[in-house]
Amino acid sequence: MKEQKKKKIFPDDFQWGVATSAFQLEGSPYADWATWDPALSKNPRITDHYTLYREDLKLLKELGVNAYRFSVEWSRIQPREYNWDEEAIAHYQEIIDILRSYHIEPMVTLHHFTHPRWFMEHHPWHRMASIEKFLRYTEMMVSTLKGVKYWITFNEPYVILLGGYLEGCTPPGLRDVPRSLIALKNIFTCHGKAYDIIHRYVPDAQVSVAHNMSVFAPWKKWNPFDRVLKKTANYFYNHSIIHAFKTGIFIVKFPFSRPTEIEVPIKDKLDFFGINYYTRIHLRFNPLKKMGVELRHMDIDGHGLTNMGWEIHPRGLEKVLRYASRLNLPLIITENGIASHDTEEKVKYMKKHIDVVEKCLRDGLNVKGYYYWTLIDNYEWLQGLDARFGLYRVDFTTLERTPTYAATYYAYLIQSRSDM
Ligand code: BGC
Repeated sequence: MKEQKKKKIFPDDFQWGVATSAFQLEGSPYADWATWDPALSKNPRITDHYTLYREDLKLLKELGVNAYRFSVEWSRIQPREYNWDEEAIAHYQEIIDILRSYHIEPMVTLHHFTHPRWFMEHHPWHRMASIEKFLRYTEMMVSTLKGVKYWITFNEPYVILLGGYLEGCTPPGLRDVPRSLIALKNIFTCHGKAYDIIHRYVPDAQVSVAHNMSVFAPWKKWNPFDRVLKKTANYFYNHSIIHAFKTGIFIVKFPFSRPTEIEVPIKDKLDFFGINYYTRIHLRFNPLKKMGVELRHMDIDGHGLTNMGWEIHPRGLEKVLRYASRLNLPLIITENGIASHDTEEKVKYMKKHIDVVEKCLRDGLNVKGYYYWTLIDNYEWLQGLDARFGLYRVDFTTLERTPTYAATYYAYLIQSRSDM
């Protein structure tokens, strides 16, 4: 009898990648964020990846990844409302060509938090014109960039809304619930229409958003208010988007009030589901805080907290993957990583999370890829240059890149898991 071939745990086409975003590496003089954070004026080119990209792409080869997620910076491509910069487009095309020559699959993010300044000034997301502007940009990208199959329309649509429309800590800096709901509808509309545009130009395209998923827990298990908050947060953050992609209806649900339904044209507009996972959040009801909610990270299981103060909670990755499996689509972990000055910590974080991916694959979950965040140290939105998420350390004065042990270890993991 023929010996049966052992099924591989990580399939041959599993995407081992790293993820980056353009603005966080290269800044942009035309972006809303360039003036939003005054500290950036001291270091506007950040890692100067816009010039040093060829060297940085070689690092991907060194790591042995077969996939790379990066974003194109809208504000460089369309610095003024009626002006497209062909050189900027050619620049991103060159990145794609280099990746292809290295046999690395590009995954392109169209929107990763930043906007051209003119867009934010005249057509922010709560205005109807935002839809047309974003779709023209999408069509320009999809019709000109060649060799891209994987597309992310929006990185973390909920984070755009939470930061820009509820917390007010990111552009356009509003705290305005009604406008946040209009913006949400417009962003979802853009995703739905962009999905169709991408498929028109690239029939075999794989399109998704990269949705930030978290695990929530009550601050005090015995406290019924904390438990209600946990449920509400979980419904909003993890469930409502899945429901919206399945049904085309987004449900706004607050405790003790009737839910509101908003129609969003995104039913089935997904080919896979991109998940960014980092942490677990504990919640407490506190009437003195905004909307009665206080958030905290606690080191419950002894895995520690990251430089961002986030709890390291690898089991949460399994939870969110199981949750997202309800979509019956391939799942790709489009971001997962740790901010730390301590390389050992980075290695442990990576290993523990990849072990969870392995367990999920053994259990039959449809996970198709894992992208580590991130390649080299970069600019972190609210923390600046000290968060240190990179596999390679960047000296922000000399711009020198130095491999950390985490880079060596990731290369080893990719190699060893691919053989399993
Ligand atoms: C974002 C990245 C960010 C990372 C760490 C993700 O939510 O997509 O841009 O750097 O989190 O905060």
